[in-house]
Amino acid sequence: MVRMIRESFAVVEPRADEVAKFFYGMLFSIAPATRELFPVNMEVQRSRLLRALVHVVQMVDRPDDLIPFLRQLGRDHRKFGVVSAHYEAVGTALVGALKRFCGDAWSPTVERAWAEAYKIMARTMQDAAAADDNPAWWPAQVVDHQRLSWDLAVVRVQPEYQVPYRAGQYLSVEVPQRPRLWRYLSPANAPRADGVIEFHVRSVADGWVSRSVVGHTRLGDVWRIGPPMGRLGYDRRTRRDLLMVAGGTGVAPMRAILDEMAGWGENPQVHVFLGGRSHEDLYDLENLRRIAMGNPWLTVVPVLENERLPGVEHGTLADAVTRHGAWSDRDVLVCGSPGMIRATVSRMLVAGTPLDRIKYDPFTLD
Ligand SMILES: Cc1cc2nc3c(=O)[nH]c(=O)nc-3n(C[C@H](O)[C@H](O)[C@H](O)COP(=O)(O)OP(=O)(O)OC[C@H]3O[C@@H](n4cnc5c(N)ncnc54)[C@H](O)[C@@H]3O)c2cc1C
Ligand code: HEM
Repeated sequence: MVRMIRESFAVVEPRADEVAKFFYGMLFSIAPATRELFPVNMEVQRSRLLRALVHVVQMVDRPDDLIPFLRQLGRDHRKFGVVSAHYEAVGTALVGALKRFCGDAWSPTVERAWAEAYKIMARTMQDAAAADDNPAWWPAQVVDHQRLSWDLAVVRVQPEYQVPYRAGQYLSVEVPQRPRLWRYLSPANAPRADGVIEFHVRSVADGWVSRSVVGHTRLGDVWRIGPPMGRLGYDRRTRRDLLMVAGGTGVAPMRAILDEMAGWGENPQVHVFLGGRSHEDLYDLENLRRIAMGNPWLTVVPVLENERLPGVEHGTLADAVTRHGAWSDRDVLVCGSPGMIRATVSRMLVAGTPLDRIKYDPFTLD
């Protein structure tokens, strides 16, 4: 099934733009109500659904990773206003679009493979959505917006009621300046009694949402926050020492976990490697050092790729972490850009770190 799915997708991939046009055309003609769920201007901001769908369907041979992710995704999709009937329409449009562009590579067996894989995923998402009693999203008011540099802001929001996330998880967020463009952000604090959540947002070149958040967020703006997702976190029961590897704003979920651990008092040894290209990327280093001063179990190691500074390791995070060995007795958490995650995880595997000890959120699409 997986081989057929991957091989047939490879045939249409060079024409991905045309496939997407056909897919959305078909979807909006068989289920016109779904048009409302997508970004207003799809020519400029191309929707992420088809790209996401194909990416996820190709993971059908990794059920242990995929099923928990799909359950979270199903709960999360309620925020778009997705209902059961939409799933069938999306499945029909997906198969219809692939068939149209696959030419001779398409056959009834290939069609069955895509339809089956999609059906399993859609069912998993729908079941999880139906079983969830939480709201589809939480309103949260911006109570603080600090611009740390031209491309980085710390934003604090006060949800109307507690968002039930665990330290290390991420949340999807919609801001009033960019309706219908939800993006994932990681809280940088563990859940607090007053519910306030801190986000670190870095604007990316040509980024629709991140540039708007960094440049145009106002106090009093009301954000919408989707249900918690992701599997980063520390399981206290293991009592194992911990290694955290964080690139750029990937420090946010690590800080949330440290925040939670600091509340426990007694902890195993924790090393945090915090990396970036230049010293601005280490914007949270002083905060981490402050936490380390009061918590002797914590060691912070800054790493820079493009600058040499005293007390700072030189190289990529993958270089710096593996220079110290395999860390095979540790639980390892990795967070950062998709490229940084890929490089770090693959170098650690080569160095001898067992795969089942490394946790990262794998289904990133950017
Ligand atoms: C699990 C998860 C957690 C995340 N947590 C955070 C967080 O805590 N803080 C934060 O600032 N961001 C975080 N992100 C990234 C965030 O969700 C957005 O993808 C990012 O802000 C870009 O959105 P945009 O609308 O500005 O860019 P888009 O308009 O979606 O994209 C514009 C262009 O930028 C490129 N691009 C997108 N993301 C990046 C990137 N990271 N680096 C370089 N180029 C990029 C795109 O390919 C595209 O070409 C997280 C992402 C994931 C998957
Ligand atoms: C198996 C079924 C499905 C899977 C695996 C899936 C997966 C995804 C993923 C991973 C994203 C997020 C992309 C990102 O922001 O990074 C997404 C976005 C989205 N999905 Fe789904 N989805 C499914 C079904 C549906 C259905 C039935 C609908 C209803 C029409 C839907 C509507 C949307 C919308 C509106 C978005 C946001 C689009 C955008 O940002 O442009 N999805 N989907």
